[in-house]
Amino acid sequence: MSALRPGSGALSSPGRRFGSWRCCCWWWWVLVVGVAVGSGDPWMSAEACPSSCSCSSTRISCVDPERGINAFPVLQTEAEMENITDIYIANQSSFSSISDKDLHYYKNLRNLTVTNSRLTYVSKLAFQNNFKLQYLNLKDNNLSSLSWRIFKHLNISYLILSGNPLHCSCENMWIKLWLGEEADIQELRCIEDGGARKLLSRLTLPNCEVPTATLTPSNLTKMEGENMELLCTTSGVPSPELFWDMIRVAYYEIATSGQTSKLQLFNLSSTDHNSKISCTAENIVGDKESSVVLNILFPPKITKLSDAIPDHHWCIPFSVTGNPKPTFKWSQNGKPVKEGQYIFTRIHDYAEREYHGCLQLDSPTHINNGRYKLEVANPYGTDEKEVDAHFMHMPSDATDPEPYYYGK
Ligand SMILES: *[C@@H]1O[C@H](CO)[C@@H](O)[C@H](O)[C@H]1NC(C)=O
Ligand SMILES: *[C@@H]1O[C@H](CO)[C@@H](O)[C@H](O)[C@H]1NC(C)=O
Ligand SMILES: *[C@@H]1O[C@H](CO)[C@@H](O)[C@H](O)[C@H]1NC(C)=O
Ligand SMILES: *[C@@H]1O[C@H](CO)[C@@H](O)[C@H](O)[C@H]1NC(C)=O
Ligand SMILES: *[C@@H]1O[C@H](CO)[C@@H](O)[C@H](O)[C@H]1NC(C)=O
Ligand SMILES: *[C@@H]1O[C@H](CO)[C@@H](O)[C@H](O)[C@H]1NC(C)=O
Ligand SMILES: *[C@@H]1O[C@H](CO)[C@@H](O)[C@H](O)[C@H]1NC(C)=O
Repeated sequence: MSALRPGSGALSSPGRRFGSWRCCCWWWWVLVVGVAVGSGDPWMSAEACPSSCSCSSTRISCVDPERGINAFPVLQTEAEMENITDIYIANQSSFSSISDKDLHYYKNLRNLTVTNSRLTYVSKLAFQNNFKLQYLNLKDNNLSSLSWRIFKHLNISYLILSGNPLHCSCENMWIKLWLGEEADIQELRCIEDGGARKLLSRLTLPNCEVPTATLTPSNLTKMEGENMELLCTTSGVPSPELFWDMIRVAYYEIATSGQTSKLQLFNLSSTDHNSKISCTAENIVGDKESSVVLNILFPPKITKLSDAIPDHHWCIPFSVTGNPKPTFKWSQNGKPVKEGQYIFTRIHDYAEREYHGCLQLDSPTHINNGRYKLEVANPYGTDEKEVDAHFMHMPSDATDPEPYYYGK
């Protein structure tokens, strides 16, 4: 692979690619390599790749210690950067930081290695756009600390940090907690104030505790229109910050005092049913979320009852809300429909607090024609709606050009 590296041979340093005598040789080189790798291997045009790195359509590699990089490699177009899944940086003695913008366009990055370089600083927002990042190798650098918040939104499966001068500080405590036994496998050590090194797995610090959060009460069954009070109690050292998170935007009040916060919800509505409310405690060591799902009792309502449609079977479609789940009762021309093998209520789906279904009729005949009424009920109320359904004309009407009968 290194034979194809655009960096091999007479290339100028970044920013001086044009305007020197080397320009001619560079183009010559592109031409030759372009021909050599023209088909098959997905190497991108050499001009897209930073001059001291080598690139394929999915990978960037910067390992040349002679002509090193001092900033994160950038390709010419966003589209090219979006295709990159793997970035490998090694032996770069001038490479020291990853800023919040550096990886912005590498949306599909899965694998990032920065090793044996001088990485000292990683912005808390460095990976804000890299949701697919899984493997992060930062071995043999100059990191003294690394915040857990950098990884908060990610699903990292590998984190390699050995060979960094990590401090034995509370900020690094999460690394011990998160890596568990892996910390010993990597032989991670931290440096105490006096300069002594100790195994990170043995790190204990006063005033450095991961937070907890507890929500009470845990049973949140309430009637529509009622008010509710939730209490979130947190612990942790240093004292964690506390956040509430919920979809609801109106009719609430939050009162926080010390480690406890009270959330009051007024005039609960059916749209609050099944919604999640969470309380998160967060400090330098980590975060903890506690959540509840609201159970709001409300009377049933028929939101839709439409004309019969011929599907595999005939269907009179409906949508109904209500909690608890309402009972369904049908009548045809004032007489109760006896549900059985050929006519029955069928719920297909429950979504967004609504039951969607059909009164399903298997091969209905003219005796099924008529006005259908749906009555729904639960302990908190009832609702009803009517619709006309016409499945087939009387047999005498055999000349009808458009028989509605829909056999199987
Ligand atoms: C990105 O990858 C896709 C699929 O491999 C390819 O078709 C496309 O040309 C690539 N885009 C760039 C800018 O390399
Ligand atoms: C980095 O340099 C070391 C020696 O200084 C060498 O052994 C190693 O192979 C280099 N890594 C890469 C990826 O070139
Ligand atoms: C990431 O890259 C490293 C080094 O190239 C490799 O060892 C590792 O297997 C890769 N991991 C994934 C998930 O691709
Ligand atoms: C390593 O990081 C420290 C700050 O944590 C800095 O003072 C020092 O200059 C860095 N060393 C190198 C070699 O970059
Ligand atoms: C996180 O990654 C693991 C394995 O790498 C995977 O099993 C899991 O589904 C992922 N979770 C999310 C939320 O992406
Ligand atoms: C929650 O409270 C309601 C009434 O307030 C009660 O009917 C229900 O059984 C309780 N559920 C649990 C799981 O305790
Ligand atoms: C309570 O909410 C309902 C709608 O969900 C609204 O019609 C009613 O006016 C509200 N009542 C009060 C007192 O805000």
